[in-house]
Amino acid sequence: MTDTQIRRVAVIGAGVMGAGIAAQAANAGAQVLLLDRPSEGDSFAERNLIAAGALERMIKDGSRGALMSSGVADRITVGNTEDHFSELAGQDWIVEAIVERLDVKRALYQRIDQVRSAHCMVSSNTSTLPLKHLLDGMSDGFRQHFVVTHFFNPPRYMRLVEFVSTDETSPEGLAALKAFNDKGMGKTLITCADRPGFIANRLGVYWMQVALQEAVSLELDVQQADQVMQLCGFPRTGVFGLWDLCGIDLMPEVTASLSRLLPEEDAFQRYARSPELISTMIEKGWHGRKGKVLQGFYRQSINDQGLKQ
Ligand code: NAI
Repeated sequence: MTDTQIRRVAVIGAGVMGAGIAAQAANAGAQVLLLDRPSEGDSFAERNLIAAGALERMIKDGSRGALMSSGVADRITVGNTEDHFSELAGQDWIVEAIVERLDVKRALYQRIDQVRSAHCMVSSNTSTLPLKHLLDGMSDGFRQHFVVTHFFNPPRYMRLVEFVSTDETSPEGLAALKAFNDKGMGKTLITCADRPGFIANRLGVYWMQVALQEAVSLELDVQQADQVMQLCGFPRTGVFGLWDLCGIDLMPEVTASLSRLLPEEDAFQRYARSPELISTMIEKGWHGRKGKVLQGFYRQSINDQGLKQ
């Protein structure tokens, strides 16, 4: 297999990351199939709504959608994981970008293994889960064609992709995938050791948790805290902007996952529980930039209230 052979890409999970990765693959010239799961009780017409909505946003909303031109959208087909699963046969690369839960991801891989073409590479966009856990119990063929490709948010602008493979990984498949990510999608690939959170989240999530907890206990003003952090050289989003960007609802999942994977005495455990403020925001549907009500730390009243719980 050579790099030119990754022409058909399927992305499963049409959320923040999946939609962005699908757009980048289409921008790189691939035919893309974007699937999400139908909800129970959906009528036939409603079963593709999540992926269709993601495509619509890609076309409409430049910052989140990330399509280079509206013509690129013609390369993206949407569907759902019940009615269109068999279309995963014939893909060259299947990217999994669903919820950060080992059991749910593994159940999906079992299904993928039944339909994928022998040469097809499969990758997970997991933030925290080690490759060896994802591969546990999978067939030899799947093991040889599965890696972690950890993209960053938003996939259009963030150049980094953390890559994790094993000694078993097919060298041809790996080379093709790397070439497509690097030359095709313009990403910078860093090969990481297979450890919980790889590099970025092992360090970055720790930092986000500590910063949030300190800010809450000091009752800091959100904007002021971010302004200071930005001006002293931290990411342009600041601490709270980064929470909004990653997804307020996703972060407890990611920290819980990291916490389960790390030893009890690890320094991270002290910060693994998010403050109550986060559960309150999630209950209200304030999921940050992706939420239905488009509210997180940076929307409406919470900015004026400081961080009192
Ligand atoms: P999200 O919640 O925005 O989207 C997940 C999508 O997957 C949803 O549309 C959901 O309906 C769908 N889904 C869930 N289970 C499914 C299943 N069994 N079959 C098909 N579709 C299913 O999540 P997000 O933020 O896009 O995260 C996806 C993955 O990417 C996670 O593993 C996360 O840890 C990782 N990630 C997230 C980043 C972020 O900043 N949000 C950054 C880097 C990685």
